[in-house]
Amino acid sequence: MKKRNYIFLTIGFMLWSFKQPNIHQNYKSTTLIGSYQKMPDIMLKKGCNLCHKANETVVGPDFKSISLAYKGDKAKLIKFLNGEAAPIVNPDEFQYMKPVINQLKHVSADDKEKIAQYILSFK
Ligand code: HEC
Repeated sequence: MKKRNYIFLTIGFMLWSFKQPNIHQNYKSTTLIGSYQKMPDIMLKKGCNLCHKANETVVGPDFKSISLAYKGDKAKLIKFLNGEAAPIVNPDEFQYMKPVINQLKHVSADDKEKIAQYILSFK
């Protein structure tokens, strides 16, 4: 198996374990990133922070690159989060992001608004 597959397996396990409320609680207290606004709770709950960081590419592209690609277009970003628009940042790796989009179907419009606002705050 390729090294990358192990990384995804590990992340899968981490996503699973962060669903356990006690571990999640500990994680939450350390999520102020630099001078940016605080990451919305819904993103911690869904584990977005496990694959996305502020300025460095981990598994997914960093928030700054996503923000630059969307050029402040919140409506377009929300469309992507709703599964109504194709990826523009790194379409070749969308397979890893796709299960997240499926999960986001159960998230309120209000929370998606907060997610988009947070991501676009990276400049
Ligand atoms: C398992 C790892 C993983 C998790 C968890 C994850 N992402 Fe991603 N994400 C990716 C990868 C890989 C890409 C690159 C593919 C792409 O551009 O769609 C990506 C891309 C994106 C993009 C860019 C879309 C575009 O136009 O290309 C956004 C926005 C995004 N993620 C938001 C989120 C949010 C919000 C969450 C949490 C609800 C999240 N991601 C959780 C891996 C992940």
